[in-house]
Amino acid sequence: MSQERILVVDDEPAVRSIIAAMLQRSGYSPVLANGAEEALIRLREDPAYDLVLSDIMMPGIDGISLLDRISADHPGTPVILITAVHDIHVATNAFRRGAVDYLLKPFERAQLESVVFRAIEHGRLRQQHNAYRQNLEDAVSARTAQLRAAMHELERSYDITLEAMGDALDLRDEETEGHSRRVTAYTIALARALGVNSDHLSIIARGAFLHDIGKIATPDAILHKPGRLTAAEMAIMREHCRSGYEMVSKIPFLRDSAEIVYSHQERFDGTGYPRGLRGSEIPLGARIFAIADTLDAMTSDRPYRKGTTFAAAQQEIARCSGTQFDPAIVEVFLRVPPESWAELRGEVDKASVSALPTLIRPTVAHAKPFGLASLTPEALKGAAHATADPARDR
Ligand SMILES: [Fe+2]
Repeated sequence: MSQERILVVDDEPAVRSIIAAMLQRSGYSPVLANGAEEALIRLREDPAYDLVLSDIMMPGIDGISLLDRISADHPGTPVILITAVHDIHVATNAFRRGAVDYLLKPFERAQLESVVFRAIEHGRLRQQHNAYRQNLEDAVSARTAQLRAAMHELERSYDITLEAMGDALDLRDEETEGHSRRVTAYTIALARALGVNSDHLSIIARGAFLHDIGKIATPDAILHKPGRLTAAEMAIMREHCRSGYEMVSKIPFLRDSAEIVYSHQERFDGTGYPRGLRGSEIPLGARIFAIADTLDAMTSDRPYRKGTTFAAAQQEIARCSGTQFDPAIVEVFLRVPPESWAELRGEVDKASVSALPTLIRPTVAHAKPFGLASLTPEALKGAAHATADPARDR
């Protein structure tokens, strides 16, 4: 025998009793409410009803409004509305608002029984459907978490790949050791100050880190030549942008960063190489990098000269605003005081040469003022840069 609980809502005591008696005879367990207000209280106290059977015409909150409240607060509970008015509009309105069925007074017990049976079955199916959907959603969340973990692993292996590429370049030239990681740190700091978002930041950081990777293909005789290069040698040296691009663009996760590798020697006024791009034709990351690169080249010691101060480097970069550099970026760059740049350099140089990961995958969450911090020094493992003299003419 079924023990389904049915909330019977009617303002007339006689009608409530008759319906209750019929339901009991059919094996259901009715609970009575003298109006919508009492029904809502009962539902609040114990929402586990299998069905609500409610009159439409009641003083205070009517059956249609009760239906609306139940649909909103107890969406799993089926509702049957009862009325004495034989009006098709009442029925369609009830269905539109979510009633599962409709009973016209007066009705026989058999009629009530079949409508109640169908409605409870309908409710059960709806609950099963919801449970199924919930299971499905849980399964999707679980798989998403697994996928996220796999992506995290993948990112780690990306970073190991990058590190290996950096090491490969490192083996070629140790003269300007630390340049790549410093220039990456400066590039990220400047990109942050410009408000670049974190996804784009990773692309730019990787491009900055690998900017001279193409020099792996430059012959030693040219790469290590102490004096000035001849025009022919210079032409070969300049190939490093394209070689780097070709190398890096084949690696799917570095494809966007490859654009920066390709364009890192361009100048804002179009006199750079290899393509002579000008202004906004040069990728933003490369325009940012150009300033970072010059900043590091000028402030680093070379065998033949001492590095300048950060303040002097900033002045020089300001002087080349609009020719070598993007004036809008220079403006933001100049807002960062020289001491901040010097401090950042200190942090990077102190860094142990351990794993590089987070730098290339910067975390915005740990940003210090103007955003230098997520370049955790330990994270900045670098490759030696081949040559970047103050004029960046190689
Ligand atoms: Fe370069």
